[in-house]
Amino acid sequence: STGPVIRAERSYVMIKPDGVQRGLVGEIITRFERKGFQLKGLKLFQTPEDLAKEHYKDLASKPFYGKLVDYIISGPVVAMIWEGDGVVASARKLIGATNPLAAEPGTIRGDFAVEVGRNVVHGSDSPENGEREIGLWFEETEVVEWTRDMTPWLK
Ligand code: TYD
Repeated sequence: STGPVIRAERSYVMIKPDGVQRGLVGEIITRFERKGFQLKGLKLFQTPEDLAKEHYKDLASKPFYGKLVDYIISGPVVAMIWEGDGVVASARKLIGATNPLAAEPGTIRGDFAVEVGRNVVHGSDSPENGEREIGLWFEETEVVEWTRDMTPWLK
């Protein structure tokens, strides 16, 4: 066939080291699963410093950048690719505001965190950044093609 391949929207979502150490992995995955998004990549991963720096390079001039990088490499993360219509914006709604004290109850940060520097989870802020981050964190062979069988109840 000809023409561009139109891919479904994807977000890079990461359970940060505090989320892993606090035993929140299952809780967080559950929220994305039951919302209806499809998991396309998943790994427990000890982040090399250069990758953490590259991931957050847009924040390199911020005063908290050094601490942020140290935090991300302080223990294993769970790196995930979630796919579906509108997943980038929806994931950010599920995650909640950057400062957990400002995050609404019912969001991940609103329910599980109090510190901006320990805010449990990351979600891409645009579809373009989603693709950039997926390219940084995943090898092509780690991205699995499958279709969640959402058997339609109306046809
Ligand atoms: P940012 O991309 O602004 O937020 P988000 O993760 O919600 O997209 O910032 C990236 C991370 O940097 C944020 O999750 C936590 C950390 N951070 C601080 O430690 N202090 C701060 O004042 C801010 C704004 C962010």
